[in-house]
Amino acid sequence: MTAIDISEASLDYARRQCNVLGIEGLQFRKLDLYDVAQLGQRFDAIHCAGVLHHLPDPERGLGALADVLRHGGLMNIMVYSRFARLSIVGARTFISDLAQQPVSDDLLREVRRRFLERMAHPVAAKIMRSKDFTTLAGTHDLLLHRHEDPFDIPRIERALQRFGLRLLSFQFPSPTAAARYDAMFPSDTKHRDIKSWHAFEMREPGLFAGMYRFWCRKD
Ligand SMILES: C[S@@+](CC[C@H](N)C(=O)[O-])C[C@H]1O[C@@H](n2cnc3c(N)ncnc32)[C@H](O)[C@@H]1O
Repeated sequence: MTAIDISEASLDYARRQCNVLGIEGLQFRKLDLYDVAQLGQRFDAIHCAGVLHHLPDPERGLGALADVLRHGGLMNIMVYSRFARLSIVGARTFISDLAQQPVSDDLLREVRRRFLERMAHPVAAKIMRSKDFTTLAGTHDLLLHRHEDPFDIPRIERALQRFGLRLLSFQFPSPTAAARYDAMFPSDTKHRDIKSWHAFEMREPGLFAGMYRFWCRKD
């Protein structure tokens, strides 16, 4: 199993977590996702969480991963939803004067203070309910990314087609969402009809607040 990230700090965090959890046998490589072919390996399965939407060209990143996936191999992808991120876009207007400053713990505390001071505002209240808001690192991840290019379901569909990937299923954000989906689309028993997923999200635009997660296969 090989884990890549462009950031040594992220790799260090992953190494520490593996030590804590007693997970062995991983190789860690500092590498830009665009250059994943430099590993010189092909993979049976690829898991890519929370990265593609931060790249200058997310489709190029997905293509690079698809190139190193074996035929028949599986990929699990997590990417931001454009609709679910709208509330974050709104919340950022509270801190637009802070967003370009170098990130430090003091800056993150100031960001948190801004929202705490306006907790009666529905946008601030929503941010404060997020689990990410409870830590400085989470606040950074939630509100201060320099670059975000989120997806919607039609864009996912186009990207999968372009790289010869077939959707296997979206993962439900909660069991209750699964029950609502099944009631609305009883014929999509495998949860892989992309038009139904798009219609479902249009009815519930905050559904993928925790990102889209889906499995696909290289045919
Ligand atoms: C939100 S974190 C997700 C981390 C991890 N995948 C997880 O699920 O916990 C985004 C990660 O993407 C990494 N990243 C950003 N651009 C990258 C690139 N071009 N190549 C590889 N990793 C990148 C960042 O360093 C950061 O660790």
